[in-house]
Amino acid sequence: MDITHNIEQIRATVKEWRQQGLKVAFVPTMGNLHQGHLTLVKTAKQHADKVVVSIFVNPMQFDSATDLQAYPRTLDQDAQLLVANHADLLFTPTPEIIYPQGIDSHTYVHVPGISELLEGALRPGHFRGVSTVVTKLFNIVQPDVACFGEKDFQQLALIRKMTTDLALPIDIISVPTVRAESGLALSSRNGYLTPEELALAPYLHQVMQAIATKMAAGERDVTSLVNEFSNQLDAKGFKTDQIDIVDAESLLPLSATSHTAVILMAAFLGKARLIDNRTVNLH
Ligand code: PAJ
Repeated sequence: MDITHNIEQIRATVKEWRQQGLKVAFVPTMGNLHQGHLTLVKTAKQHADKVVVSIFVNPMQFDSATDLQAYPRTLDQDAQLLVANHADLLFTPTPEIIYPQGIDSHTYVHVPGISELLEGALRPGHFRGVSTVVTKLFNIVQPDVACFGEKDFQQLALIRKMTTDLALPIDIISVPTVRAESGLALSSRNGYLTPEELALAPYLHQVMQAIATKMAAGERDVTSLVNEFSNQLDAKGFKTDQIDIVDAESLLPLSATSHTAVILMAAFLGKARLIDNRTVNLH
């Protein structure tokens, strides 16, 4: 596996593959790789001949300088995992390579609606950072397919809309959330948890399952579900940031015509903000 921070080298390698008639898949990440990311790489390999992975902790999508600075960077270990999982090329740009004039004067891509809803309302500018960097990475790598995790449900919806709206010739493939045996969704942010918090963390998944069970049994009073289960999480030692139960297609409030709901969970546990989601069929 070649590792480079050089845009021209990425372009030249992918061009050569194209000339050989090979199909190229792309997995963008922020590194500190775990089985969730590696499942994306394996899926990518099933859909293409060559897999390009990027590791870039994107400053444009962080809301706080402290969070950006604290984000785990484990490049050597990540590269070893990628070699073991048969990635072909690793792109590791610096912020100066992606944003040579700085973030504030950089052209951006804004996806209306999805960017401001839900998580977007809590984290202004976050999704603009995601759509901008993913567009730029897509233009550098020019893959045939790109893989994203369902764990970041709203991010996946954002990327799908952006790809359709801008007619980007890239198939977006989604990968179901990879979990620990306890049900806890794997996340780089789980590394911020103390052993005690790690033992408590799967409770977020249990609460989400309990909400899904109630909805499957016909409960539709979203406000009371959110109140009841936020209180349960807080009583256990979480600080619930947001629980949303919305239409899985539009991310808007449930209506009589909604077929599928998505339960979106976000809660602080110690220093980590944990997220999770699942869908529920309504009919
Ligand atoms: P990051 O958090 O590193 O995640 C990279 C990809 O891995 C995303 O598509 C995410 O949904 C997926 N992923 C993370 N945990 C997962 C899990 N437990 N199961 C399945 N997939 C999982 O998401 C980002 O980086 C960034 O926003 C990025 C898209 C790279 C843009 O900067």
